[in-house]
Amino acid sequence: MSYETILTETRGRVGLITLNRPRAFNALNAVLIRELAQAVEAFENTPAIGALVIAGGPKAFAAGADIKEMADKSYMDCYLEDFITKGWERTAQCRKPVIAAVAGYALGGGCEIAMMCDFIIAADNALFGQPEITIGTIPGAGGTQRLVRAVGKALAMDMCLTGRQITAEEALRAGLVSRVVRTEEVVDEAVKAAETIAAMSLPIAMMVKECVNRAFEVSLAEGVRFERRMFHSTFATRDQKEGMGAFTLKRVPAWEYQ
Ligand code: CAA
Repeated sequence: MSYETILTETRGRVGLITLNRPRAFNALNAVLIRELAQAVEAFENTPAIGALVIAGGPKAFAAGADIKEMADKSYMDCYLEDFITKGWERTAQCRKPVIAAVAGYALGGGCEIAMMCDFIIAADNALFGQPEITIGTIPGAGGTQRLVRAVGKALAMDMCLTGRQITAEEALRAGLVSRVVRTEEVVDEAVKAAETIAAMSLPIAMMVKECVNRAFEVSLAEGVRFERRMFHSTFATRDQKEGMGAFTLKRVPAWEYQ
């Protein structure tokens, strides 16, 4: 499939999606969001793909929703089309693991798409921010919710109320990103991490993802109960027998489902 605003590539068992509107700092317009959703869907439906990476360019992961495209929308336009829902939520709904490789600006919707991924690997030049307040609106793709869960109330309030951008190092300290690497290496590092995940049993990796995400939705007691049941269910898979058997026999496991 050929796209106008993104590039897609398969590297081994990893599906790599690159946002590609460099002249607009990868501003997220309707076409890009539709194509991103289609690409996520396509990789999710490809059995040979075990994990995804979403990357931008060296200067911008994405500088947010396309301001020029949305500036003149009316309230009714937004309400009736459920603006920032269709297509946008597809990344968060992907059941296979997704890593964001963020270099340069990840602002507004860019930061929000990155936070929809399972974790973020940041380049040392990455800048994260929720500057919507500076253009007379608020984060609308989950920023007020996911950011507070990632970094806590104080920093989330600071970023959303002042529009201040934080560096990769600050993002690492705050727990927004899992690693910081050299800018020129960020995509390869993310693909390497995705390859590691894609070499695991796919259903087990999906269960891990589901359990960790559950922690954001429910109480600790409910989350642990959910985890326990999922843990028990791994014993119904051949891959649990294979993984533990391979450990005992000191060989590499050959998963039934990858
Ligand atoms: N939407 C549309 N176009 C954008 C854009 C955006 N979010 N961000 C950058 N661009 C465009 C600029 O308009 C400019 O285009 P032209 O050359 O045609 O004028 C081009 O990209 C380069 O941008 P700048 O000239 O501004 O470059 P800079 O280096 O001076 O600044 C920047 C870079 C700091 C990223 C700055 O462009 C900027 O602040 N962008 C907007 C950031 C923002 O407010 N994002 C939030 C959007 S709202 C949102 O995302 C809502 C939500 O929750 C989903």
